[in-house]
Amino acid sequence: MPDKNDLELLILGHTPILQIESHEEKRALDMLVRIAIANRLPVYQWSVTEGLKRLDIDLGTQRHNAEPADVLGHIKSSSVEGIFVLLDFDPYLSEPTNTRFIKEIAMKFDGSRNKLVFISHKIEMPMSLNHSVVRFDLSLPNEEALVKIIQEEARKWQRESGQKVSLDKKSVLRIVSNLKGLTFKDARRLIRNAIVNDDAITESDVDEIMQAKYRLLNRDDVISFEYDTARFGDVGGMSRLKQWLHQREKVFHGQGRQDEVDSPKGLLLLGVQGCGKSLAAKAVAGIWKVPLLRFDFAALYDKYIGESEKNLRATLKTAELMAPCVLWIDEIEKGISGGNDDGTSRRILGALL
Ligand SMILES: Nc1ncnc2c1ncn2[C@@H]1O[C@H](COP(=O)(O)OP(=O)(O)OP(=O)(O)O)[C@@H](O)[C@H]1O
Ligand SMILES: [Mg+2]
Repeated sequence: MPDKNDLELLILGHTPILQIESHEEKRALDMLVRIAIANRLPVYQWSVTEGLKRLDIDLGTQRHNAEPADVLGHIKSSSVEGIFVLLDFDPYLSEPTNTRFIKEIAMKFDGSRNKLVFISHKIEMPMSLNHSVVRFDLSLPNEEALVKIIQEEARKWQRESGQKVSLDKKSVLRIVSNLKGLTFKDARRLIRNAIVNDDAITESDVDEIMQAKYRLLNRDDVISFEYDTARFGDVGGMSRLKQWLHQREKVFHGQGRQDEVDSPKGLLLLGVQGCGKSLAAKAVAGIWKVPLLRFDFAALYDKYIGESEKNLRATLKTAELMAPCVLWIDEIEKGISGGNDDGTSRRILGALL
């Protein structure tokens, strides 16, 4: 577990405050408890609903410490060594009293084994605390871990249902490559759903998992998931494009030899109206059996005046997490043609390139 080792180094290190931005609160807490026990440090957890309680042994909760300022005061005056984990504390960080308390705690903890740990999905630390804080990011599962999750879930379902679970090897490989970018928790949930609905992992689960993943990741509607990918059989002509795509299919899926052909990065389709550009773009996803994401430039400009670049980056990030996928930018000329705006489209082009 490389995560646990890295986290342990930070816990035993000198920076008094640790910030963990994650949706996987339980996984982070489990690791902290194991580290605490191994190092004989008590570990406490605080949440606004439950107050303060010890995690490594059960001593009940201290409800009187539910208020943010109260718990900070308590931690500051506490004489015991320990790891103090504050869950979802971010809304209270903007209170000047709390910030000052945290700073005083940081000064007191400096150089000791005491730690203040913030776990939340998003944390904006006040500037004044910056130099007392280290960030820790939980890693996302790699291919090996994902295969393991699939095997574990299959075995678990076999035990629960008494049904034999069959795993189609090819589909498993595709699911593994499609689930990269998700957290352990989300990946496990999608895998479990896929297994439970028909006691198997098959070709049909691949599409469902891709769509579910897209729903998890998508935060806006600048890109949309296109369910309708075309088959190249539907496209007349364009034989050179078909050949080009076939030659690169293996490399694109990371299977072929990279020294024979380069993995394709982009494809610009240019032609008169109605010659089949949009259709061909859909067929690329169909032929390679990957998700097709459609990027809508008009929505990018309309929805976020003045923030188009930032949102372009967020959108591209989503596409990156969905990879391998085809990102279809239709009517690109309308998005980056420049002209009489304030230079936004030029900056967008820059960001895109
Ligand atoms: N090569 C082709 N093979 C099969 N159908 C085609 C072909 N070219 C065009 N079509 C049909 O013509 C219609 C228009 O095609 P499509 O929307 O893909 O063109 P386009 O190049 O994207 O046009 P525009 O520039 O207006 O966006 C579609 O319904 C498509 O099915
Ligand atoms: Mg078109």
